[in-house]
Amino acid sequence: MKKDINYTEVIKETIEALKKGNVLVCSIDKKGKPNLMAIGWGCIGIVWGQPIFSIFIRPSRYTYNLIEQTDDFSVNIFDDKYKKVINWCGSVSGRDYDKFKETKLTPLKSKYIMSPIVKEGKINFECIVVAKVDINPEMLDNEIKERNYKSGDYHRVYLGKILICYKNFP
Ligand SMILES: Cc1cc2nc3c(=O)[nH]c(=O)nc-3n(C[C@H](O)[C@H](O)[C@H](O)COP(=O)(O)O)c2cc1C
Repeated sequence: MKKDINYTEVIKETIEALKKGNVLVCSIDKKGKPNLMAIGWGCIGIVWGQPIFSIFIRPSRYTYNLIEQTDDFSVNIFDDKYKKVINWCGSVSGRDYDKFKETKLTPLKSKYIMSPIVKEGKINFECIVVAKVDINPEMLDNEIKERNYKSGDYHRVYLGKILICYKNFP
């Protein structure tokens, strides 16, 4: 059963899941078709006195198109047993596959945003985009540029205000 919790209770677990690659972002198009994408980069913190989850999305991702349509997303944290599914969601595009159908993961209607949360996720965040920041190559450390942006495709950072956070309880 999912219960609302204070997001500060799950920051450590969330960061560990990001490090392990156990996180899926869910977004949706205007017609109501949702999509899933693996993320490995993200930050939780306070900006403008508000709780913010920032995600880094390359413009080539279908997810980028979807977040541009709705200005919201959910972040969903998983156990290790979902690693295979998560890696698959991080290797194919929602342009070519219905990722919910293929993975048998379950979209659940969110309380505040259009994008669903994922039932099987042990922690879920509903986020609304309050700012977008494009990584500027001219202001980037050379080593980071060299390592991550050989083909350009500089990330857009979506700063999402955390509207609600859930955790699964037995
Ligand atoms: C573990 C893992 C972490 C990833 N992290 C990111 C990320 O933070 N940002 C990003 O733009 N792509 C990331 N990717 C790549 C996308 O998940 C991948 O390109 C995905 O197929 C995009 O799906 P979409 O086109 O349906 O949006 C990651 C992939 C994996 C496997």
